[in-house]
Amino acid sequence: MTTESLVLNGSDGQVAGYPPAGGPIQSAITYEKIPTHIYADAKNASRAVAHEIAELIRSKQREGKMAVLGLATGSSPKTVYAELIRMHREEGLSFQNVISFNLDEYYPMEPNAVQSYWRFMREQLFDHVDIPAGNYYVPDGTVRPEEVAEFAKQYEAKIDAAGGLDFQLLGIGGNGHIGFNEPGSLINSHTRLMMLDNSTRAAASSDFGGLAKTPRKAITMGVASILSARRVVLMAWGERKSPVIQEALEGVVTEHNPASYLQTHPNALFVIDEAAASQLTRMKAPWLVDSVVWDNSMKKKAVTYLSLALNKPILKLTDRDYNDNGMSDLLALSGQAYDINIDVFNQLQHTITGWPGGKPNADDTNRPERAQPAHKRCLIFSPHPDDDIISMGGTFQRLVDQGHDVHVAYQTSGNIAVADDEALRFADFVVDFNTKFGIDSPEANRIFQDAATFLRDKKDSEVDTAEVRYVKGLIRMGEAKATCRFVGIPAENAHFLNMPFYETGTVAKKPIGEADVQIVMDLIEEIKPHQIYAAGDLADPHGTHKVCLDAVMESVRRLKGKDFMAECWVWLYRGAWAEWDIHEIEMAVPMSPDQVMKKRLGIFKHQSQKDGVVYQGTDSREFWQRAEERNRGTAALYNRLGLAEYEAMEGYVRWKY
Ligand code: F6R
Repeated sequence: MTTESLVLNGSDGQVAGYPPAGGPIQSAITYEKIPTHIYADAKNASRAVAHEIAELIRSKQREGKMAVLGLATGSSPKTVYAELIRMHREEGLSFQNVISFNLDEYYPMEPNAVQSYWRFMREQLFDHVDIPAGNYYVPDGTVRPEEVAEFAKQYEAKIDAAGGLDFQLLGIGGNGHIGFNEPGSLINSHTRLMMLDNSTRAAASSDFGGLAKTPRKAITMGVASILSARRVVLMAWGERKSPVIQEALEGVVTEHNPASYLQTHPNALFVIDEAAASQLTRMKAPWLVDSVVWDNSMKKKAVTYLSLALNKPILKLTDRDYNDNGMSDLLALSGQAYDINIDVFNQLQHTITGWPGGKPNADDTNRPERAQPAHKRCLIFSPHPDDDIISMGGTFQRLVDQGHDVHVAYQTSGNIAVADDEALRFADFVVDFNTKFGIDSPEANRIFQDAATFLRDKKDSEVDTAEVRYVKGLIRMGEAKATCRFVGIPAENAHFLNMPFYETGTVAKKPIGEADVQIVMDLIEEIKPHQIYAAGDLADPHGTHKVCLDAVMESVRRLKGKDFMAECWVWLYRGAWAEWDIHEIEMAVPMSPDQVMKKRLGIFKHQSQKDGVVYQGTDSREFWQRAEERNRGTAALYNRLGLAEYEAMEGYVRWKY
């Protein structure tokens, strides 16, 4: 256990309230074996890391010495590098006294290839600061296989000659890798050629146009090379990293999770955001770590946790259960287990409704939605063209069946997730059709012919042309329209927003802009919804879902003063990866076995996203399988807590803006 663990709120050094709201949680003890700083979000966390690096560079400058940095690539450090560039431009931070060594490089890899880490470093940092040209090193992905061992030795010798690493920056793979030291790497490993783990390749495959084209090897600094740094800071953002972060910090030191080796380092720090911290004991069960304020939400969290941990329905929990599991103060406050149990049970019971748009003419005192107006205008925001049906298909169908005026706003075109061959098939269809029937639209023929020509000769590193993106976008639009027909909403209720931030043709997107927000705002104003549904996905803080959510939230904040907004409730659903925690769910919409099957058929309309999709990620299940397992999982949890047993459930949290 360590004592140096804070939840920080970033720039002002304030301690973020989790829990209690706004108050300090400077835990007396933690279950983490490495000092850990948790920030509200990746931006504030990155700023803190960048400031530590800047401080090191400056202090070395004052001593007339070089600062020797070990640097990482991947999505995590991008925001750190952006802040360093800002400090260089605005605050005169100089990199003249910096020597840097990058952790790794794919093998084989040409330095100028789009995916090379050499190129990444130049684009993300080196080209924008005044580091001398010969002062930065990235493992060379072009050395011949028989020369790699010697190259690796020389790389370490160079680090030693520079005086060793003052500071090592790290990300962490979903499997616990640091650098490309995959599970199984030994604590005494040095720089070497490494076979990449399947999960690492799957995570990288979107950069390479599919798994088959993703490299199998990389040159990486070893675990011992990393541990030899005088300071090591590991960053992790987003919920997807939370299980591996929990293991690395609270588990045993093991080669199965190479990041756990950092427990042996005398000066390591984990800097993570709240989403990446969500599986830590101090977040999941803070009453086990420190005293907490037993407000309603803490009580619900603790009781559901206790019930699931003991595998006992809530109504069967006893005084003894509370006392034995660190909740005696809650028991003392409430008097007896019976009262706490009933209270939390009822709260959970009241989240369940088959009437997501409100039940007309019913007493809605204890229902999640209002009975009035009986017929609501509902606006579902779907980041990609299939998130509506994947994440909330059961609710979507109920809203339509129960007579509400349901609209769907497809926020992005989703065009990068269509395989080239699929696009070629559609382009061929149109060209052949037009040729046969002599349809005389030179512009249409040109678009499809250009797309077909480009796709036939496309090189791996090439970015799709505007024509190809258009064809791919059209394919996904057709699939979304098919789902809407299937669920039963009129064609004019499907709105395709094509938000500009998404239209880069590559996995890397532009930051959210005014134009994106304006499009979302205009639609909300036009429809004046009583209900908005949006994807409240935090699993990937760099991902499309987060940007789409930001656009909805910003629009809602700006429109807040308008009369119609007084009646507008916002419900957040979760994307394809994770469900809300059970204690967070404020509305749970059950599904019967038939409804689950119907939802599956709705998801099937998205044919381009089936059978080996372009961006499979590390989860090999198809989207309908992920959705069903998750929805069944939520129902199973309600059942285990002692509530009614349903086939499946979709969960929502209300955003009270
Ligand atoms: C990158 C590296 C890797 C990444 C890790 C996390 O140089 O060595 O260990 O840090 O794969 O990647 P992101 O940050 O993209 O999640």
